[in-house]
Amino acid sequence: MTEITTNRPSRLTSGFDIPRPPGLTWYVQAQQPVGYEISLTRGLLNPANPALAKAVGADNRDGVRALVVVDKVVDDLYGTALRSYFTAWQADATWLVMPGDEETKALEQVVEVTRAMTEMGILRRTERVVVVGGGVLMDVVGMAASLYRRGAPYVRVPTTLVGQVDAGVGVKTGVNHGTHKNRLGTYFAPEVTLIDPEFLRTVPHRHIANGLAEIIKMALIKDADLFHLLEETVAQISSDTLADCGADMREVVSRAIAGMLDELEPNLWESVLERSVDYGHTFSPSLELRADPPLLHGEAVAVDMAVCVALATGRQYLSPADAGRALALIAAAGLPLTHPVFTAELLQIGLADAVKHRDGLQRLPLTDGIGSCVFVNDVTPAELARALEFVHAYADRTDGSAP
Ligand SMILES: NC(=O)c1ccc[n+]([C@@H]2O[C@H](COP(=O)([O-])OP(=O)(O)OC[C@H]3O[C@@H](n4cnc5c(N)ncnc54)[C@H](O)[C@@H]3O)[C@@H](O)[C@H]2O)c1
Ligand SMILES: [Zn+2]
Repeated sequence: MTEITTNRPSRLTSGFDIPRPPGLTWYVQAQQPVGYEISLTRGLLNPANPALAKAVGADNRDGVRALVVVDKVVDDLYGTALRSYFTAWQADATWLVMPGDEETKALEQVVEVTRAMTEMGILRRTERVVVVGGGVLMDVVGMAASLYRRGAPYVRVPTTLVGQVDAGVGVKTGVNHGTHKNRLGTYFAPEVTLIDPEFLRTVPHRHIANGLAEIIKMALIKDADLFHLLEETVAQISSDTLADCGADMREVVSRAIAGMLDELEPNLWESVLERSVDYGHTFSPSLELRADPPLLHGEAVAVDMAVCVALATGRQYLSPADAGRALALIAAAGLPLTHPVFTAELLQIGLADAVKHRDGLQRLPLTDGIGSCVFVNDVTPAELARALEFVHAYADRTDGSAP
């Protein structure tokens, strides 16, 4: 702490001289270290695997309590195995089963989790909240953990592809509010995220493609090797192959996570607004809000990425051949390239919203050759319209339409 002292009276712009005694202004500066682990493991629910027991402290003590919040769908599929695991480790789990859908992602859900924490009388430092579910439930429970007594330790077990390569990797929590997605939220790291690809075996294909959009994003902005690997393997990527976690699939998932962490770690609190991980996330929020029937997040991101590929091609950052490869990969992943409500006007609205979010500048990430990224601030409405035409012309030739 610095004590700011002055013997001179301060001069206000109003012209009044107000004498200020020394030592009435202090400047506080503190830093909070953040450390958390993300670990890929197999057979997480096999009692022979100690990872989850360790995460809740049940590996060296009997009767350890934990609040386990489980997505309803996940509970139907894995609830028995989960309960057997905690019993085998003699942990005393309290169960809270909640819906994990986007429509229920609201403050009320956060309050429900904190209510369960209060009822259980969870100890503030030594007893954990464990969340087992997709991105929705992880965001809800992470927010509850961050608010409860201003921060309680929690453990994430993501069960969707989006959860495993995106939502479970960073430190953001949040819920939808009013008509806005993730409008209320916090930055709050878990103690550990435990990723078991086996959970993906039951994830519907549309939700696998949803997660692939975020993986393709990482490939386009920073990992040309991942892009090649995806080109070679995209036809084989499925719930089963991801769950089997052979060498190729393991590399796809781990490169996506490593790339994401590489971008997030130096900018955890988003103090720098030029974020390459925002690729595909400039126009997509406006599309997500308006699409009816609703699009999944990754589907809207895919449509946004297609326009960004076209914008980069228009500026000669991408060759037409590489643009074709990028669009072909998005389509081969089962993702749309276009959407009827995604018009030139909507692109402008989306960009205007992004400018507000990015503090007055477009800061639009574009690919600068596959695997590299550049930020631009001067995209014009005419350029947006041309980019959209480019994508539509490609989609008409190849039928890359909305699902
Ligand atoms: N915090 C972040 O940094 C971050 C990053 C990306 C996304 N998100 C958020 O994550 C959410 C999207 O996450 P999501 O795509 O995982 O959606 P989700 O959590 O809604 O899960 C999708 C569906 O799959 C079901 N499900 C979950 N696991 C399953 C399994 N193993 N088998 C079968 N079904 C299963 C769920 O019940 C749900 O119906 C969005 O709300 C988004 O805002 C947050
Ligand atoms: Zn995203």
